[in-house]
Amino acid sequence: MKRSNVLIVGCSGFLGSHLSESTTILNAFDVTTAARSTGDLRIDLTDPRTLATVRDHLKKRSTHYVIIAAAITDVEACASNPKQTRAINVEGTFALLDEIKRAQSVPIFFSSDYALEPVARLTLLNEESPVQPQTEYGKQKAAVEKYLRENFGKYLIFRTSKLMSRTPHPKSILQAIIRPLTQNQDIRPFHDQWMTPVFVEDIAEVLAHPKLTNLSGTFHLATKRVFTRNELTRLIRDQYLPQSRSQITPMSLTEIPTLEKRPHYNTLDASKIAEALDFRFREIEEELPAVLDLACR
Ligand SMILES: NC(=O)c1ccc[n+]([C@@H]2O[C@H](COP(=O)([O-])OP(=O)(O)OC[C@H]3O[C@@H](n4cnc5c(N)ncnc54)[C@H](OP(=O)(O)O)[C@@H]3O)[C@@H](O)[C@H]2O)c1
Repeated sequence: MKRSNVLIVGCSGFLGSHLSESTTILNAFDVTTAARSTGDLRIDLTDPRTLATVRDHLKKRSTHYVIIAAAITDVEACASNPKQTRAINVEGTFALLDEIKRAQSVPIFFSSDYALEPVARLTLLNEESPVQPQTEYGKQKAAVEKYLRENFGKYLIFRTSKLMSRTPHPKSILQAIIRPLTQNQDIRPFHDQWMTPVFVEDIAEVLAHPKLTNLSGTFHLATKRVFTRNELTRLIRDQYLPQSRSQITPMSLTEIPTLEKRPHYNTLDASKIAEALDFRFREIEEELPAVLDLACR
């Protein structure tokens, strides 16, 4: 059977690089990659000339999905440089979406729980939760979500809380905990920021899932079990690295000076997509032995 084509934009990033190299994705699709610094196509979302490359590519090669994993993901950078980051995360992304629409491909946009209204107690936010972002990063995500809803008949918005991977990656929340513990460095994890991270390996499986083609709309991708960084750090140390001499001193999110108030509950309910695809997201605890094995090699 002929595999459909996908274009992965943001192939140099944490998620994009995983998807571009994932055997799950490569077995399911013919992949073309794009980013500023590397990839089959070199594109800068702020440069209309480079977007013409995407137009030519999509014209030549009928492409089922365009996966948008390109963005300025640093929340503080968005707060301190709203104009510069909007040029990429909003206007540049709109320009890319216009090319996708012209080519009649289906966009898959990676958004965040930051697009939602922050809540004051531990609850799992679902796809019906109000879109009322309080940070510039969240506002930029919400602007693209709105553009998709208003301009596309078929699209996918995938919101995630935090990304992690089975294999070591500096941006994986697990690596950020395991590395200092194995190097006996002291850690100050947040005790008041709750999250439901998702494995990039599971995202690859969702994207390659044969039933995905029936879906359109907004979906949350997340594990079920909720953790704070402090709880996760202690779990990893107590169960797997008891020999670590790292001192763990919990701290509050509010101790870090940030330009904007950050949400405390980055907690998403992924049951909508789990039920639609009959898919189970891997929980952290069941993957930790393999993650630690790979991290400590
Ligand atoms: N990481 C998380 O925990 C997390 C949580 C929630 C949501 N998300 C969302 O998931 C998506 C992927 O996140 P990530 O962590 O994989 O991001 P990342 O590692 O920061 O990668 C960002 C990607 O965007 C590309 N990019 C940046 N500016 C660009 C521009 N002007 N033109 C073209 N490409 C540009 C980068 O390419 P170059 O390096 O080549 O410039 C890179 O490939 C993002 O939309 C992010 O907001 C991530």
